[in-house]
Amino acid sequence: MNAKLHASNMQQLFPGEVFANTADFDTGIRQLLPRYDEMLEVITRCLPSTSRRILELGCGTGELSLKILQHCPNAQIIALDYSPRMLQFAQSKIAAAGYQNLWSGIEADFGDWANNPEKLAIGGEFDACVSSLAIHHLQDEMKFKLFQQIALSLNPNGCFWNADPTLPETPVLIEVYKAAREEWAAAQGTTLAEVRAKVGTSVTQGYSSQDQLATLNTHLQMLTQAGFATVAVPWKYYGMAVFGGWLCKF
Ligand SMILES: C[S@@+](CC[C@H](N)C(=O)[O-])C[C@H]1O[C@@H](n2cnc3c(N)ncnc32)[C@H](O)[C@@H]1O
Repeated sequence: MNAKLHASNMQQLFPGEVFANTADFDTGIRQLLPRYDEMLEVITRCLPSTSRRILELGCGTGELSLKILQHCPNAQIIALDYSPRMLQFAQSKIAAAGYQNLWSGIEADFGDWANNPEKLAIGGEFDACVSSLAIHHLQDEMKFKLFQQIALSLNPNGCFWNADPTLPETPVLIEVYKAAREEWAAAQGTTLAEVRAKVGTSVTQGYSSQDQLATLNTHLQMLTQAGFATVAVPWKYYGMAVFGGWLCKF
């Protein structure tokens, strides 16, 4: 492979991998997104600590998995991600933390799972499904199919929590959200431009492409139509939100 081709291959990321070098992800995402840890902690706190079977969609480098395993000592996590690079990072961090028996990483596209669940032998009857910063790469039609499949895969008391960027309802908010992110980066001793210099270029992969944002309202409507009887937004910070709900009505 000549040097030019090699360099261009290195930059072709899957949507959601974000950083050209996977090793930059854990630090970079905390500079790029305000309150990343808090956001994941909200998902974790919304899960019953007695949860046994948890499905994670788009696990990335395993940051959410690690927080969940600390909170739910009886949980087995099945973690899907289509990126072998991200899964490899997650796998080593999970093993280093001593959780290897409680976590299975599976290389798969969650859009494929939504369309053909029988092809991926992960079963159902999950107590919870979680995801962070991944589902917004699907077009709305696929988000809805995925929410339906999640609903079908949960126990009757099961819950689903997702953290994702949402589409600003007005152009004014685009500027407000941008300013908040700039201020956050400055408080971390950097700038968005500096962090974005480490971001790679992604091309469409499977069902995911660059950001396909929907408003928070659209998400909640889709969840209701998909079968979630109780929907909620336990956290929102500017354009980022944690939303989801339970199959049962309270
Ligand atoms: C921005 S990262 C977030 C990772 C992790 N959830 C976190 O919050 O740190 C998004 C992850 O979703 C994965 N992803 C995006 N679209 C996917 C799809 N259709 N199927 C499986 N994984 C996907 C990417 O490979 C990436 O690891």
